Amino acid sequence: MIVDVREVSRRFGKHSALKDVSFQIPEGVVFGLLGPNGAGKTTTIKMITTLLQPTSGLIKVGGRDVTKDPTGVRKQIGVVFQDPSHDEQLTAVENMRLHARLYRVNSNVRESRIEELLRMFDLWDRRDSKLKTFSGGMKRRLEIARGLLHTPRLLILDEPTLGLDPQMRHQLWSQVRALRDKEGVTVLLTTHYMSEVERVADLIAIIHHGILISHNTPEHIKAGCNATSLEEAFMSLTSESHEDPSSRIETTSAITSPV
Ligand SMILES: Nc1ncnc2c1ncn2[C@@H]1O[C@H](COP(=O)(O)OP(=O)(O)OP(=O)(O)O)[C@@H](O)[C@H]1O
Ligand SMILES: [Mg+2]
Repeated sequence: MIVDVREVSRRFGKHSALKDVSFQIPEGVVFGLLGPNGAGKTTTIKMITTLLQPTSGLIKVGGRDVTKDPTGVRKQIGVVFQDPSHDEQLTAVENMRLHARLYRVNSNVRESRIEELLRMFDLWDRRDSKLKTFSGGMKRRLEIARGLLHTPRLLILDEPTLGLDPQMRHQLWSQVRALRDKEGVTVLLTTHYMSEVERVADLIAIIHHGILISHNTPEHIKAGCNATSLEEAFMSLTSESHEDPSSRIETTSAITSPV
């Protein structure tokens, strides 16, 4: 197991963003972490990437404890966050070089790795263009390429297809599959596109109000709900998801206890 999350909870003041969540990710799979807005996906990702400490519980990445050995954990992970930041004045290749230095990519392989990744994500021809001239999809692809510079075992993508058109999303999912199949990278991703994640993910975890409510293959999740699509299964598992999130602080216990 490359990721081991055991009985993890995270509070923000009085609000429990994550409650006693456990799941494991085997090496070499695409793992989809799903849930309605505010379910706790980004919070989970921030804890796995060592940016946020669990209030209780244990998280290991490649056998290393996120709390005790954050540096060891970070070396194994490439991450693309939901709200990325860019230096718009840099060109694609300058941006890659900057991050290669930050990630201490060996100077012998730096330029060849940058070329390999820019080609993989169809950005080589635009390598000398400034990021301010890039479309949203090109920026997304550059971020993913950047996250792979130090050849991580685990790539984490928080809503990688947000704001992309259907063609771009299709292309990005193909690239995610290729990373798994050709490079053996384990991919942990979140998305709200159910029909797309159903085709790309080997395993899925669904969190709802901070609780893990399902953890299985897409086929088993559908069968368990008697649903014909993952979206249908997701909707039936999270049917009260459209309430006002701000009301949840007071209602959490009512929701979590069986009625
Ligand atoms: N730094 C913080 N301080 C206080 N509350 C927070 C903080 N970060 C997250 N939360 C709360 O924790 C809950 C989970 O948030 P999180 O960002 O993990 O959701 P998400 O599943 O990623 O949602 P989305 O699909 O909208 O990205 C939300 O209720 C959110 O308001
Ligand atoms: Mg999020």
